[in-house]
Amino acid sequence: MIISGKELSTRLKQQMREQVAGFPAEFGRVPHLVVILVGENPASVSYVTGKAKASEAVGIRNTTIRKPESISEEELLSLIRELNADDGVDGILVQLPLPKHISEDKVIATIAKEKDVDGFHPLNVAALWQKQPCTVACTPKGIIRMLKEAGVQIAGKRAVVVGRSNIVGLPVSKLLLDENATVTIAHSRTADLASVTRSAEILVVAIGRPRFITADMVSEGAVVIDVGVNRDPETGKLCGDVDFQAIEPKASVITPVPGGVGPMTICCLMENTIQCFLDRMER
Ligand code: GUN
Repeated sequence: MIISGKELSTRLKQQMREQVAGFPAEFGRVPHLVVILVGENPASVSYVTGKAKASEAVGIRNTTIRKPESISEEELLSLIRELNADDGVDGILVQLPLPKHISEDKVIATIAKEKDVDGFHPLNVAALWQKQPCTVACTPKGIIRMLKEAGVQIAGKRAVVVGRSNIVGLPVSKLLLDENATVTIAHSRTADLASVTRSAEILVVAIGRPRFITADMVSEGAVVIDVGVNRDPETGKLCGDVDFQAIEPKASVITPVPGGVGPMTICCLMENTIQCFLDRMER
């Protein structure tokens, strides 16, 4: 079975649209997401455009602020502080990666925790690892949602996560653990990676290397979640971290690239924006 993140996200966005349509009557306005893009990285431009389109589809107000690559760290931090103080802003997202002269850690920590729709703020991360209410990072959240939607039982399963990034590998490992999987985190220094990935009943791959996971690395019947978004070095087309063609016949469930995890990430961003809005309206 191929899980279409595209179809699932379209359905979820439609439901959110109906929810958001009731907000002006109830709260006097709709949620407002501000996205900050620094520079012209083509992948980042495309992601930010996708976020604006999804906002429109759901009925969320989106402001995208574009700043030149040359913006200073202090200028960016003071922009974030202004948005923190702006009562009409519910969510703030700074598209990563940032130019080298700007500290991503500082930028993330400057965003008000209550407006951190990415779930990257240290207080949100700490809350996740302590099983307290928090904003959960969009990609990990979308992955768990897809697994559940596909009817995959997670409890008791051997899950292997390849990659240990703050954005995907670490938080998705924690969410799988919270669903009672037995979780292994593999990475670039893992010895005999293939034997580790072959032990997986659920395999989540987030390493950013085109078609790195080959058929011999996957067991028959495994559930395979491909988080990679790469350019195929030969064709220039989008491809995942998993050799989809070769692995699809072996896997019981697999996600395509594009149209798999990516749309679910954006969908969860919409959900997080609505949640931040509702939390702020309640306070
Ligand atoms: N760059 C790649 N993925 C993400 C994400 O989920 N959020 C932000 N802000 N930047 C990213």
